[in-house]
Amino acid sequence: MNEKKLLTRALQSLERAYAPYSNFRVGAALLADSGVVYTGCNIENASYGLTICAERVAIFKAISEGERRFRMLCVVADTPEPTPPCGACRQIIWELCGDIPVILANPSGNSRTFTMRELLPFPFDGDFLAE
Ligand code: THU
Repeated sequence: MNEKKLLTRALQSLERAYAPYSNFRVGAALLADSGVVYTGCNIENASYGLTICAERVAIFKAISEGERRFRMLCVVADTPEPTPPCGACRQIIWELCGDIPVILANPSGNSRTFTMRELLPFPFDGDFLAE
């Protein structure tokens, strides 16, 4: 599984977005160490705050299937510049995926890759809760 194939999976997921309020569709594809790819799209709600981002859908699907280690995440939105993950998603990606590469892309293939460390410097995590 390479970056291009992961991008293809993220794009397929974008097509399934449920985004009737923002009309802003996002797709994500997360490659687990097992080799399995978990996809996600954003799912909105009339009670706007209940909306869940594509990244979190993909991660929660993977975690709920027993996955605990990940290789890379790809996020796609139809914007001229690749769309960065929101702050809430950065916190979740850090906690559950660690310092993985995150490929941000648009459907034309314009992409930028960051590490999670770059996207979330000085993160709050479980290390601060240890005695
Ligand atoms: N959204 C995502 O799914 N991922 C992001 O990284 C940014 C925002 C969604 C949430 C909402 O459905 C729509 O995009 C507009 O904020």
